[in-house]
Amino acid sequence: MTSAIPLREKLERISPTEGKEQVIVQHFAIPLLHELGFGDLEIRPEFETGCGEVDFAARKNTQHTDIFFNSRKNPYLLLEVKSRTVNLSEGSAACRDAVDQIKRYLLGEHCKSARWGIITNANYIQLWRRHGKVVHPVTANLAINLDNIENIVHDLRNKIENYERALTICVYNNKGGVGKTTTVINLAGALASKRKKVLAVDFDSQGDLTRSLGATPGKVTLTQCLKDPRIDVHTIVQTYRLKTPKGIVSVFNLIPRDSELEKLTDSENAAYIQKGTKRLRDLLAPLRREYDYILIDCPTQWLYFSQSGLFAADVVLIPTRPDDLSSLNNAVRVITKFVPETAKSRHDGGPIALPIFFNGVSSGSQHTIQLANEEIRKFINQEENVCLVSYFWPRFKKGNEDKSIFKIPDYTVISSATFARIPAVFKYKKVLEYYQSLAGEYFIDE
Ligand SMILES: Nc1ncnc2c1ncn2[C@@H]1O[C@H](COP(=O)(O)OP(=O)(O)OP(=O)(O)O)[C@@H](O)[C@H]1O
Ligand SMILES: [Mg+2]
Repeated sequence: MTSAIPLREKLERISPTEGKEQVIVQHFAIPLLHELGFGDLEIRPEFETGCGEVDFAARKNTQHTDIFFNSRKNPYLLLEVKSRTVNLSEGSAACRDAVDQIKRYLLGEHCKSARWGIITNANYIQLWRRHGKVVHPVTANLAINLDNIENIVHDLRNKIENYERALTICVYNNKGGVGKTTTVINLAGALASKRKKVLAVDFDSQGDLTRSLGATPGKVTLTQCLKDPRIDVHTIVQTYRLKTPKGIVSVFNLIPRDSELEKLTDSENAAYIQKGTKRLRDLLAPLRREYDYILIDCPTQWLYFSQSGLFAADVVLIPTRPDDLSSLNNAVRVITKFVPETAKSRHDGGPIALPIFFNGVSSGSQHTIQLANEEIRKFINQEENVCLVSYFWPRFKKGNEDKSIFKIPDYTVISSATFARIPAVFKYKKVLEYYQSLAGEYFIDE
């Protein structure tokens, strides 16, 4: 039964150096699950995720014949508990291990329905969200004390009960011409082809995305919307339609760039935008409930537009080129500098960088890829603060030094399709397959 004793009082009774995980389970973890709205029959200890046993899984029972405790089917939330002697502070080795653990569990084959993961030892707590193949933080790794525990739990419950539908992806590398816009357009098309509801946002004043789709801004523009929070964001959302043998079909939605957008980079105009680089995130907030994916295209320079794109994103997808050392070097800067810098000002643990991918790989480029991997090895060895391995070689493990990196081939029709104002994925079956496999590698869990 749900305990009448408030969590704060339970927490007060646990020794600051409590070494037994079982004590944290009894006096903190189970009461926490109760406070998050789960009853005893909605909580299952020692749940087999398909990728190891998590301490608890939970889900609301939908009817009296569907008791999660008995059925163990379709978990919604996973909770991994540690003792207080485990140092779960941000950046510690134990914290990194616990994060890997909850990610693994959330992606376990018995957890397809799981949306949330919590790691705690009653000193620290962090909430993670699963969206398709992506697991990303939705709170910082929070230090718990008697004064903040009630607010923390209230906030976690709020987030869990108001699951946002969209994963917001910013496609960014501060090296130009690596295929950011091409990726946004074709990934949007590939995700749409998998029946996902997609919005592409052109947040680059060059307007390459808008031009490639043959779009023009409507009466109300993105710039006006950024300046005036009273304008409903839906007024600037357009539909990209495609002529097919069966007639004209809506494919995905977009927010086009307008010619006034570039003026926002000068300081006088920038002053009109309340909250500066934080404004785009607020502007997109209502849309996060309506789409499966929101893709943001940004320019190269680490200035207003790109800073806004990263601030608005859950994850950052980084295109690089194996034949361009500078694109690899800049990917390292995104991972070690721009993403952490943004996360520092966000206070919710996000955004996070996804593993890089190679765009525009020509056939017979084995030697180039080998050279790129040698450079990557140097970056990994030189970097002191961030372990770069998983960002470059996500399959690399002790005993299995797999250095494979996802590739989109260099294919002339990918660029020529823009002249027809049609994403290449809708003109060429082969290109659709490439980008569907990009979607499958990073995002869609099928
Ligand atoms: N896989 C590919 N195969 C062939 N051409 C490609 C591929 N990816 C991108 N291109 C072409 O490379 C050029 C640069 O791509 P794109 O404009 O997408 O890069 P970007 O990173 O958005 O550039 P910018 O920094 O100017 O915004 C374009 O002409 C595009 O059509
Ligand atoms: Mg571009």
